[in-house]
Amino acid sequence: MIRKFVFGSPVETEALTDSGSIPGIRGEETEDFPHLAVSAGENQSHVLSCDMAPHDIIYGLGENVRGINKRGWLYQSNCKDDPLHTETRHELYAAHNFFLADGRERFGVFVDAPQTVTFDLGYSDRDRLTVTVDPGGFVLYILEGDSLRQIVKEFRHVIGRSYIPPRWAFGYGQSRWGYECADDIRQVVRRHRDNHVPLDSVYMDIDYMENYKDFTVDSDKFPDFPGFVREMREENIHLVPIIDAGVKIEEGYSVYEEGVKEGYFCKKEDGKEFVGGVWPGRVHFPDMLDEKARSWFGGKYKVLLDQGIDGFWNDMNEPALFYGEDHLDEVFEKLEDYSRQELNIQSFFGMKNLVLGVANRKEDYETFYHRYRGEQIRHDRVHNLFGYYMTRAAGEAFDRLEPDRRILMFSRASYIGMHRYGGVWTGDNCSWWSHILMNLQMLPGLNMCGFLYTGADLGGFGADTTEDLLLRWLELGIFTPLMRNHSAKRTRLQEFYRFGHMEDFRNILGLRYGFLPYLYSEFVKAAVNDDMMFLPLSFVYTEDEEAAGVEDQLMVGESMMIAPVYRQNARGRYVYLPENMKLYRFRSLDCGDSQILPAGHHYVRAELNEVLVFVRPDHMVPMSEGGCCVEDVDMSRLNLLHFVRTEAVYELYHDDGISRKVELETGITRIKVKTDGTVSAEGMLNPECRLR
Ligand code: GLC
Repeated sequence: MIRKFVFGSPVETEALTDSGSIPGIRGEETEDFPHLAVSAGENQSHVLSCDMAPHDIIYGLGENVRGINKRGWLYQSNCKDDPLHTETRHELYAAHNFFLADGRERFGVFVDAPQTVTFDLGYSDRDRLTVTVDPGGFVLYILEGDSLRQIVKEFRHVIGRSYIPPRWAFGYGQSRWGYECADDIRQVVRRHRDNHVPLDSVYMDIDYMENYKDFTVDSDKFPDFPGFVREMREENIHLVPIIDAGVKIEEGYSVYEEGVKEGYFCKKEDGKEFVGGVWPGRVHFPDMLDEKARSWFGGKYKVLLDQGIDGFWNDMNEPALFYGEDHLDEVFEKLEDYSRQELNIQSFFGMKNLVLGVANRKEDYETFYHRYRGEQIRHDRVHNLFGYYMTRAAGEAFDRLEPDRRILMFSRASYIGMHRYGGVWTGDNCSWWSHILMNLQMLPGLNMCGFLYTGADLGGFGADTTEDLLLRWLELGIFTPLMRNHSAKRTRLQEFYRFGHMEDFRNILGLRYGFLPYLYSEFVKAAVNDDMMFLPLSFVYTEDEEAAGVEDQLMVGESMMIAPVYRQNARGRYVYLPENMKLYRFRSLDCGDSQILPAGHHYVRAELNEVLVFVRPDHMVPMSEGGCCVEDVDMSRLNLLHFVRTEAVYELYHDDGISRKVELETGITRIKVKTDGTVSAEGMLNPECRLR
C-alpha cells in the first residue's frame, strides 16, 4: 500500500511516472502520517521523525557511504562533486531519498524533494530518525507491504521501469583519464587482444574533445573519427565518450553560440548567463530543466551518434563548479588584501579557506535560475534534479533518434527518476581496500532506488592501485552490471597488462563472460519485474536474525550468493550461510571445484586468484564457455552450476541484446535439472547443457 502526503508547494520532480495516479492528501490537513511525525522546522523547513527500537534497521538511500544498514550516520541529499569518499562524508553525487525501516515496524519512505534533504538516522540521537527537508515543500510517500522486497517492488513500480543497456555494455570496459588520441586507444585494444584479455569497450575521457568542448572531437588526435569508430567496431570494441555538463564559452563554437542565441543557458537574476568554471575554463550550464533547452542539448548527442558512437557517460552534472565567476572576482580582491598582510593564525586559515571554498559553493548555486514548468526557479531549490535532467535530455533524444536501438548511458549525478534513462557509476573513488567494500554495500541501496545498471571505478580512480587490490576488486566487479576499470591522470597505470600476473586477471575476467548468461538474465528480469538484482541476505532470509547483520555478502539474483575478499593479504574470509549451499571455487572458467557446506559460519579459503560462488539449494547458474567479447559468447552451450535436492528450474532470459522491446515471455528458456542428473531445456534457446 502506498500513501501520499503533500506539504507546501513542492516542485514536481517526475520521479514517479504518474504521480497523479496516487491520490494525495495535503499533509497539513491530516494527522494521519503512518509511522512518522511531521512538524515545522526552522525557516519553513519540515522535519519528519520517529523513534527507533534498538535493533531496527534502515536500508536504502542509494549511493551513499557506510553500510548496507544505514543507521548511525547522517546523510545529506545534495549532489556534490567530492572525490574523497571517506566514511565521514555526508554527501556524494546522488540524491536517492528512498529508505526502508525494518524492525518493530516495516515501511518504506520516499521524500520527493529536489532541494537538500538531510537524513539523520540515529546520528544525533541513537534511537531517533529525523529527516529535515529544506524549504520549498515536498511530497511524502509512505509504503507498506508484506516484506521489504514487496515494498521495494511497489516503489519501483510507481517510479517506472529501470533502464536496460545494450548487452555489450555488460562486457569489460577499459578507461583511463589520460588516453589522448586514437593511437593510445589502439594500443589499449591491441594489448588486450594480443594477451587474450576480454574487452568490449574503451572509454574516452575529456581529452578526446577539442579544448573540452562538448560534442566536438579533436581532429589532430583523431583524424577521421568515424573511420576510427568503424575500425574499433570491427574489433568488437565500442567507444564510449564522456559528455560534461558545462558548455565552453568560446566565440565560433556552435553549441555555445546557439545556446546564447536561443536563451538555453541558466541565467542570473539580472538576465545574464551564469558563468562557472569547469574543465573547459569558463562555461555556461544548459538549462536541463527547461523542455526546449533539454531537447536542444539532447539533440546534440546526434553529432556523435552519426559518427558511429553508441554509448556515453554524463559527467560533472551535479553540476560541479570549480568556481562561480562572480565570486572569484571577490576572492581575487580579498587575496590582494592578504598579500599586503603578514599572515597570522587567523588570516592564514582565512585565506586558505577562502581559496578552498571557491568550489561547489552553496551561495553560487543560489545565483542562477531555471525555467521549469512555466516558472522561474532558483537553482538551489531544484539542485538535485540537474544530473537527472541532463541524462533525461539524452534519453529523450535517443527515444527520438534511435527508437529501435539501446544506447549505453550512465551518469555521475542522479535523482530517482533518472533510473529510467540511464545507469550510474559511483564517481571518483580511490584505490583503497575499504572502497571495495563500499562498492558492495552501495549495490542493494542503488537497486532499491531503481538503479540497476551500476558499477564503481574498478581498481580505484584516485590514488595508486596495487596488483592485489585490483584483482580483488575485479573479483567483485565481475558481478556488477557496469564493469569498468577507470583511473585518474597521474595515478599508477592500471590496465591489467601492466602487472606481472596477467593470467590471473585474464582468468578472473573470463569468469564474467562465463556468468554473462545468468547476469544478463537476472538483470533484465529485475528491470522488468521491478525487482532487485543485488539483495542483502535479510531480504531473502527474512526470519534469520544473523543474516540481517551481514554487511559483506550479497545475493546476486535468485540463485547465487557472493562473498568477495576485500582485505589486504587475506587468504580467505568468514562467510555466513543462512542455509546449506554449494560452494564453487573458481580460478578460471574451466578450473574450479565444488563442495556442499552446511548452514552456519565458515572460514573459507580464497586465494588471491580465486572467486567463490555459493549456489542455493534447488537453484542453478547457467554459464557460458566465455569469450573475448560479449558478441563471442555462445548461448548454445551452457554449463550449469547446480545444487539439486529435489529439482532445480531456472528461467534463462535472452534476447538480441540491442532492440528496445524487452518482453520476458518471448525470451525465456526453462532449464530443469532433476536429482538423477537429467537435464532438459525448452523455450527460446535450445542449448546443449552440461552439469558442473
Ligand atoms: C571527473 C570524473 C572522472 C573523470 C574526470 C575527467 O572527475 O568523475 O571519471 O575521469 O572527471 O573527466
